[in-house]
Amino acid sequence: MSTPNISIVGTGYVGLSTAVGFASKGYKVITSTHDNEKASKINEGVAPFYEPNLQELLKKALKDDGLKCVLDCKEAVMNTDITFIATGTPSRPDGSANLEYIENSAHEIGEALKEKDAYHLIVVKSTVVPGTTEDVVKSAIEEYSNKQCGVDFGLCMSPEFLRQGAALHDTLNPDRIVIGEYDKRSGDVLESLYRNFYGKKPPPIIRTNLETAELIKHTNNAFLATKISFINSIANICERIPGVDVTTVAEAVGLDRRIGPSFLNAGIGYGGSCFPKDVKALIAYSRTLAYNPDLLIAVEKINETQPYRAVKLCKGFLGDLKGKRIAILGLSFKPNTDDMREARSIPIINQLLKEGATITAYDPVAVAVAKTIFANEIDYASSAIECLKNADCCILVTEWEEFKKLKPEDFTKNMKQPILIDGRRIYNPEDFSQKMKFTAIGLGAKIPAIVLGQNLFDRAN
Ligand code: UDX
Repeated sequence: MSTPNISIVGTGYVGLSTAVGFASKGYKVITSTHDNEKASKINEGVAPFYEPNLQELLKKALKDDGLKCVLDCKEAVMNTDITFIATGTPSRPDGSANLEYIENSAHEIGEALKEKDAYHLIVVKSTVVPGTTEDVVKSAIEEYSNKQCGVDFGLCMSPEFLRQGAALHDTLNPDRIVIGEYDKRSGDVLESLYRNFYGKKPPPIIRTNLETAELIKHTNNAFLATKISFINSIANICERIPGVDVTTVAEAVGLDRRIGPSFLNAGIGYGGSCFPKDVKALIAYSRTLAYNPDLLIAVEKINETQPYRAVKLCKGFLGDLKGKRIAILGLSFKPNTDDMREARSIPIINQLLKEGATITAYDPVAVAVAKTIFANEIDYASSAIECLKNADCCILVTEWEEFKKLKPEDFTKNMKQPILIDGRRIYNPEDFSQKMKFTAIGLGAKIPAIVLGQNLFDRAN
């Protein structure tokens, strides 16, 4: 196989970023989805979600005839040599992953392979627990194709580690590549694709079996989530010690090379389509092995309560929230995306509404998505300054760059009562505390802890 043609089933963040990434390096790529509207958008050069550089690279790929999106998975498989499965694995109510989309993809790929003579490699990129690639994907493809894995087609599990908001950057510059292989031939074909794609300086490549690759992805996400809940737990301790700031604690601890500085930003917790879902899935999977993963359960619990810290801090200043107007800066689960899945803004806003507050929210790109969640239960502003107007308190929820540029005067001039709760630790406490009422997650209050204890820590601790 010299330069293989590539198909990708699924056009979410992983699928489309991978597709555009391959196309940007000259590969011919066919993506497939059952979503008619999404397919039309992609073929018209309109990215179906916000992601830096995606729009530009998608347009270029279409112009160069390097990418197209089809509605028929069979067409995608028949005209390519390697197929990546990048469909979603949403949570079921018990925390385990819903494999419906993966099963459907495997079924369709199997039906296509039935009519194909040449060897074809299938690569699972979706996040799945150990055993899924072999038990679900291999079985379905063999059943519907009437062909044999390892003989007529190859199978790999190669997890994707890209972050939303940096999806294309991460696709083009990964820390490492993991190849879980059913057999050596499958692994060789995929390694050769990656080596060709990354050129002279490829990232480290780890080759292993399917189950190990599946567990690596879950372990990676669970560890990062653990770092976040760990530092948030320390932040909650810091808040009870006057004069202690978690950012200084994290900075010093992060300089220990055994620990490292990343993912030690304390705040209102992690959201998004991966960490909450994947930690839950690993907990559910561990239980099927008769192991209760206490540490992961604690990680999840800390993350569930952490957003309410911001509400508690708000109540510490305002007392009863009935009739108070709260400005929410940021709605997406993190900057540079309009994705609001598991965004911490959701429990915060719901709790504030429950307590009778009125909300004005602003986000540079996520307002349209927020409207599908909150409809007209809250007010939407078209700028940060408009959001602050006449507010009794402001909660910084997402650390967008434009919010980092706000000065104390922007709050004092526009708000009814200038009170700011920094949920993501982007403001300098000294500057802000001098000019307005200010507090932040993990910032040891100057007022006695006993008072804080009564007012603030009864629910979210
Ligand atoms: C994550 C993983 O980073 C990525 O490798 C995997 O493929 C998918 O899941 P993503 O969900 O896009 O990526 O975002 P990430 O940047 O990891 O942030 C996740 C959440 O953690 C965000 O809500 C963010 O605000 C929060 N976070 C992150 C913290 O609260 N503190 C930190 O120090 C880092």
